[in-house]
Amino acid sequence: MDTTPCVLHLLDLADDAVSVRTFDDRIVYWNKGAERLYGWTVDEARGQRSRELLETQFPKPLAEIEEYFLKHGHWHGELLQKKRDGQPLTVASRWTLEHDRSGRPQHILEIGSDISRRLELEEHFYHSQKMESVARLAGGLAHDFANFLRVIAGRTDRITAALAPEDRLREDLDVIRKTTDRAATLTRQLLAFGRRQPVRPQLIDLNTLLVNMDRLLRRLIGDEVQVIAKLADEAGVVRADPGLLEQVVVNLIINAREAMPSGGSLTIETGRVDLDMKYVARHASLVPGVYAMLAVSDTGCGMDEEVQSRMFEPFFSTKHWGTGLGLSTAYSIVKQFGGSIWVSSEVRVGTTVKVYLPIAVQAPAPSPVAFDLSQLGGGETVLLVEHDEGLREALGETLRTHGYTVIEAANSAEALRLAEAHSTAIGLLVADAVELPAEDVAPTVSRLHSGLKTLYMSGYAGTAEISRRIFEPGCNFIRKPFTQLEFISKVQEILAGPRQ
Ligand SMILES: Nc1ncnc2c1ncn2[C@@H]1O[C@H](COP(=O)(O)OP(=O)(O)O)[C@@H](O)[C@H]1O
Ligand SMILES: [Mg+2]
Repeated sequence: MDTTPCVLHLLDLADDAVSVRTFDDRIVYWNKGAERLYGWTVDEARGQRSRELLETQFPKPLAEIEEYFLKHGHWHGELLQKKRDGQPLTVASRWTLEHDRSGRPQHILEIGSDISRRLELEEHFYHSQKMESVARLAGGLAHDFANFLRVIAGRTDRITAALAPEDRLREDLDVIRKTTDRAATLTRQLLAFGRRQPVRPQLIDLNTLLVNMDRLLRRLIGDEVQVIAKLADEAGVVRADPGLLEQVVVNLIINAREAMPSGGSLTIETGRVDLDMKYVARHASLVPGVYAMLAVSDTGCGMDEEVQSRMFEPFFSTKHWGTGLGLSTAYSIVKQFGGSIWVSSEVRVGTTVKVYLPIAVQAPAPSPVAFDLSQLGGGETVLLVEHDEGLREALGETLRTHGYTVIEAANSAEALRLAEAHSTAIGLLVADAVELPAEDVAPTVSRLHSGLKTLYMSGYAGTAEISRRIFEPGCNFIRKPFTQLEFISKVQEILAGPRQ
């Protein structure tokens, strides 16, 4: 049996690129594996200089490699090469030297395996590992910090309450209080990043989530930036924690905003995409399937490669006021719900960040968030007492869009006045627990409006006075900050519940 044609057929079966070149680098043999790997046919490759054809970059100076090769008769190493279409790849390459009859080096036999995908997976793995350990560290620290801050806030409230109204120390305490709040916000971000927050996954429609955040987003974005919303008819329902998902959106929007200090345009897009094997193969962490997509694009400063390679690192920031937690937190949250984030960016052109989340159900979310119009509020009247005008307006609007009639009051005196003047029944009193004075609006209002239910809001259920009120029978409580979804769900739950 003549082995030569048989062996050649055999070589063509190999997935690896098998080639033979002369000592001065001209290709003389090129198997089917090489055709598949590099995209050049045997006819195109034969006679070419391999290094030039594949734009090979060697791990060491070529002279050094050749010296070793001649001395030992073999070499192996990793080469950076290019396919015919310009796409780069990393190849694990092994060479052996063949001599002619007179013992002069004649041919170089080479086998190359594509290891690009393996390297990508490895890198992904190391990145996940690193994120995981930093997340654990940050989460643990944040947990302790949250407790310290609660003590500081509680004691500050106690001192404030003990001071005379005109005491000038109140101003200082106010500064401490506000700073504590800011620290608490940061801590919450760290907790989210470290996945130490209680997670309450629900079915969420991405479009609804965005529509409900509309006011907040507009406030974050400001007027200098043009906002374009491209919401797909059916972006899809995903299973995630609404508060955490809102945080992802906010982080991306803030980054986009900060990338455009002198204005530009910001596009928020949703869609549904079918990611096939081919796409998934290039993006290590996904499985093929249908995903809901949320993309935030800006026409801002963009990122160079150096920044892009580090942007998901916790605490990596190019801004002197930055925390470096925006993207790393977003990454951590999205990963937690089985999704993935992809960023493409070009310096001075802009950035697009795409979040993919697995579609949970094909049909619109059945519950528990009442975006379904038929489930809108039963037209009850809500008396809303909140001193912060921005928050009051936002909550009032949320309530109205869910079918409630809203009476807004900035303080308890105003609340009492409005309650007296209001002829039809008030079903629910929503009040900030800190603002409401001890003599209590609730008993008075409930005398005027029988069957009144109450919902207290507070950032700090620390002081005895507030705790007393909150733990009164029939009292409901929601801790600030809450998402609009959490708020409206709570309101609906209370109003649908038994009479108090
Ligand atoms: N939309 C964007 N445009 C330009 N650069 C961005 C964008 N988003 C993130 N970056 C870069 O990534 C870095 C990390 O982002 P992030 O984790 O949110 O931290 P921070 O915003 O606090 O710096 C930023 O400092 C910035 O350099
Ligand atoms: Mg940021």
